[in-house]
Amino acid sequence: MKFFIDTADVNEIREAAALGLVDGVTTNPSLVARTGRKFADVIAEICSVIDGPISAEVVSTDFDGMVAEAKQLSKIHENIVVKIPLIAEGLKAVAWCADHGIATNVTLCFSPLQALLAAKAGADYISPFVGRLDDIAHDGMEVVSQIVEIYENYNFDTEVLVASIRHPGHILEAARMGADVCTVPYSVLMQLIRHPLTDAGLAKFLADWKKVPQ
Ligand code: G3P
Repeated sequence: MKFFIDTADVNEIREAAALGLVDGVTTNPSLVARTGRKFADVIAEICSVIDGPISAEVVSTDFDGMVAEAKQLSKIHENIVVKIPLIAEGLKAVAWCADHGIATNVTLCFSPLQALLAAKAGADYISPFVGRLDDIAHDGMEVVSQIVEIYENYNFDTEVLVASIRHPGHILEAARMGADVCTVPYSVLMQLIRHPLTDAGLAKFLADWKKVPQ
C-alpha cells in the first residue's frame, strides 16, 4: 500500500519524507489556506521535495474552468495530479483530462456508485472521504470496501486513495481491504510509529545496558 501525506505544509512533508514513508502528496484548498502562502508557490515547492504524485485541486465548478485550471496545474510539474470534485461537470473534466494525458484524482467521493462513475470517466485516483462519513454516523471504511470490490469486479485501473483519515484504525482496515493508497495527516503518521511497548522495551534495554561493563 502506498502512503501519501495529506498536507500542504512543506515542513511536515520534509519530515515525513526523511522517514522514507512518502510516496506522494495530497492537498486541498483548506490545507493550502492554512499555509498562508500562494497556491502555485506551495505546489511547486512540494514537487521539488517529493518525486511522486502531487494532487492539486481545481476551484472552478464548471467544465471550461476546470479544464483551464487542469492545463495550468499540469504545467507546474509532470507529477501533478489534478484533483477534481465528484460533480457532473467534474466527471466531464475528468474524461477530458484522461483523453489529454492529464492525471486526475476525483475528490469528495462519499459513495461506491460515485466511485464507479469516476472510474468509468477515466480517473487515475478516487478519494473516498472516510472520516467525514464516520462524522455523520455512516461507515466510511464500508464504502472503501465496496469500491475495492467493484473495481476488482471490472478490472478498473483507478486507484483507491483513502482520504479524510482520522486515526490508525482507518489505515489498518484500508491495508487489509487492499486499498491502493492511504493519504495520511502528519499527526496520524506519527501515531502509526509509536507503541508503548516499543518505548518501554527500549527504556529497559538502555537501563540494562548501563549494567554491562564497558
Ligand atoms: O485531502 C482530503 C481529505 O483528506 C480531507 O480530510 O480531515 O478534512 O476530512 P478532512
